[in-house]
Amino acid sequence: MLKELEELKTKAVSELDGIDNLGDLEKWRVRYLGRKGSLTTVLRGLGTLSVEERRTVGAVANELKATLESGLQQKQEALKTQNLVDTIEQTRIDVTLPGYPVSIGRLHPTTRTLREVCSVFSSMGFQVVEGPEVEWDYYNFEALNIPQDHPARDMWATFWVDTEGAGRSRLLRTHTSPMQIRLMEKTRPPVRAVVPGKVYRYEATDATHEFMFYQVEGLAVDKGITMGDLKGTLFEFARRLFGAERKARFRCDYFPFVEPGVEMAIDCFVCQGAGCRLCSNTGWIEILGAGMVHPDVLRRVDYDPDVYTGFAFGMGVERIPLLKYGIDDIRLFYSNDLRFLKQF
Ligand code: DAH
Repeated sequence: MLKELEELKTKAVSELDGIDNLGDLEKWRVRYLGRKGSLTTVLRGLGTLSVEERRTVGAVANELKATLESGLQQKQEALKTQNLVDTIEQTRIDVTLPGYPVSIGRLHPTTRTLREVCSVFSSMGFQVVEGPEVEWDYYNFEALNIPQDHPARDMWATFWVDTEGAGRSRLLRTHTSPMQIRLMEKTRPPVRAVVPGKVYRYEATDATHEFMFYQVEGLAVDKGITMGDLKGTLFEFARRLFGAERKARFRCDYFPFVEPGVEMAIDCFVCQGAGCRLCSNTGWIEILGAGMVHPDVLRRVDYDPDVYTGFAFGMGVERIPLLKYGIDDIRLFYSNDLRFLKQF
């Protein structure tokens, strides 16, 4: 019996030495110290021995039990510590490694252009203001000298909004010009402001038409403002935005809310005015509409046209990057295709 215990001890201790994980350790515990484990069986068998034998064998067996239990405990702690070390090792961070590059976004080409345009005008003393996209017929048309049934309304295909019951007709503004009226209603001259914002047209979309796009409106009203001021301001703007070597020209145009009205063009920056595909062989690229604020428009907001004069202008924003980068489809701007957007 004693010999058996001696063998048990040698076997158990050498097995314990070889164990390197908690799973095996638990199996080892069950094998030797479990309810049906080898040592437990020996201890249970003590009853069959004589009193003499029971005393000596019992003492040895109990001592063995204590040895195995303390071995078990030590091993358990060692393995737990080892586990912790392993985990730390596995999750260690090498702070000297270069980091992953952070992907930074960029501004949409329209936003960039809007900011450029507005910053040119604010450097010339214009304030930047915004206005509502859902607008009254009155501001979008009526107050701008475009009464109901006037043929000039055909210049703007309009999205109407719940016209019934409102008493006044509502629409999605077709241009930023209504802000001319809103600005003048709120302030007395001098007025000098630009208005960036979205406008809407009830049109089928194609490469050159979108139902939504951006405009920047400009307005300056004071005593003694002349066409010379309009020309000087816009020509300077064109030089700042398109380059100092750009030429610009005015030609007559018609807009109901200005008199006289003009369209402004710059000489083509691709062919320097010689004629190419971009400028349809004319050498000139049209960039905006402008004019002297119509006396009737001034009267409507209680500005005396004999005292005050002013100029106004309005431009399409997408047209600028469209021309600059040779983009051939305006729909690309708002179709959220990253392959397009990432190029800017
Ligand atoms: N609102 C006009 C349009 O959308 C553009 C325009 C032309 C604005 C002449 C003006 C202006 O302020 O004076 O077609």
